Amino acid sequence: MIEYNRNNLIEHVRNQFKIDWHGLHGANHWARVFHHGKYIAQRREADLLVVELFAFLHDSCRFDEGRDIKHGERGAEFAYGMNGNLFHLNGNQLDDLCFAIRHHSGGDISTNATIQTCWDSDRLDLGRVGIIPSPKFISEVASEMIDYAFDLSIK
Ligand SMILES: [Fe+2]
Repeated sequence: MIEYNRNNLIEHVRNQFKIDWHGLHGANHWARVFHHGKYIAQRREADLLVVELFAFLHDSCRFDEGRDIKHGERGAEFAYGMNGNLFHLNGNQLDDLCFAIRHHSGGDISTNATIQTCWDSDRLDLGRVGIIPSPKFISEVASEMIDYAFDLSIK
């Protein structure tokens, strides 16, 4: 695996980011998603690189802080276009990343550990809008982290 340059990726994302960098769906949220994702990925043997890229890309193409129902689709296309340039995923990894991004706000659950880890990590940060995620929509590992993640989300 060729390591990717995180700073270059973040700079590329930031250059086209259309909403508040410090807002509800900006860099602070992504940092917490990344933090949760690393832990869950290790516990569940999910793909750490895919989970990391999800954290930085899933909300990267939002036009607003509301539902913005197409932001997942735009984000997946943005991610797809970066592969081979800003990072280097194989076909399965790219499929998982794009699927996770495209469908992250639909309330789906997945038996694929990498995809579910992406969604777990995002859902664990719902505390920032006062929502406690339901264990029905997150993995068992993530369920153990609900209180911890809630406290972290409102700091
Ligand atoms: Fe998110």
